[in-house]
Amino acid sequence: MAIPVLCGSLSKFASPLGAAMHNAAYRAQGLSWHYVPFEIDDLRAALDAMRTLGIRGLGISMPFKLEIMPLLDDVDPLAARIGAVNTVVNEGGRLFGHNTDWVGATRALEEQMAVSGKRILVLGAGGAARAVAFGVLERGARVSIANRTQAKATALAEEVGAEVVAWAERHDGPWDVVVNATSAGMSEVDPTAPFDVRQDDVMVMDIVYKPLDTELVRAARAAGATTIRGDRMLLHQAARQHELYTGRDAPLAAMDAALAI
Ligand code: ATR
Repeated sequence: MAIPVLCGSLSKFASPLGAAMHNAAYRAQGLSWHYVPFEIDDLRAALDAMRTLGIRGLGISMPFKLEIMPLLDDVDPLAARIGAVNTVVNEGGRLFGHNTDWVGATRALEEQMAVSGKRILVLGAGGAARAVAFGVLERGARVSIANRTQAKATALAEEVGAEVVAWAERHDGPWDVVVNATSAGMSEVDPTAPFDVRQDDVMVMDIVYKPLDTELVRAARAAGATTIRGDRMLLHQAARQHELYTGRDAPLAAMDAALAI
């Protein structure tokens, strides 16, 4: 019988979604692996435990995505440029940091269309927006950034080589794709839509997944635009974690079904 392998997540407030997706993936592939979400305060001690116990992989949530970086043995170059690690892989006691959020965002878009050459407006300039902007630039998109606090948009755009669009002028495209990478639309933050959809030929992706049908997604759908909801990025970033942990392709259908429950 195979020795079980443990993976999990580190966060201040655990969510059941990662466990649902990853455990479904293990079941679908007949792996005797288990995923446990850990609620922690002491990140350094948790990483020591990862080494000591031989935990294979851990997902990292806010607020640990930034402070974890100097505690690791190595960080993937793009994760280092994004400035955030959301995944740690234990390679025989050496801890490697990755960022699967950017993979999740680009794969969610690429399910619908090729990203290269597209005019993409990214709303936001925080950690999530950085992952999205770096990801779509990596795939050859023409990226513009708009943020409520203009100075942060300017700083990010200069860093990545994107254009800045004034927050007040964000609605006036033409855009091929608009990605909401702000927290606007989250029920507990501000449920209003951060963008007025004025074109029916635009694709609108929201990375907010609480609720799944954000005001932005509803408005975009009503305007006849194609929409991508926040669960697609969530699914694809977890799929990339599965690939990194197990070395196998992710069983997407099984993971997707687990997310829908
Ligand atoms: P995350 O890591 O999830 O991106 P963050 O770094 O706190 O979180 O960034 C939150 C982003 O959402 C920021 O771009 C923020 O805009 P500001 O830089 O102006 O704060 C944006 N944001 C949050 N609430 C918003 C709202 N109600 N309307 C528009 N943008 C909002």
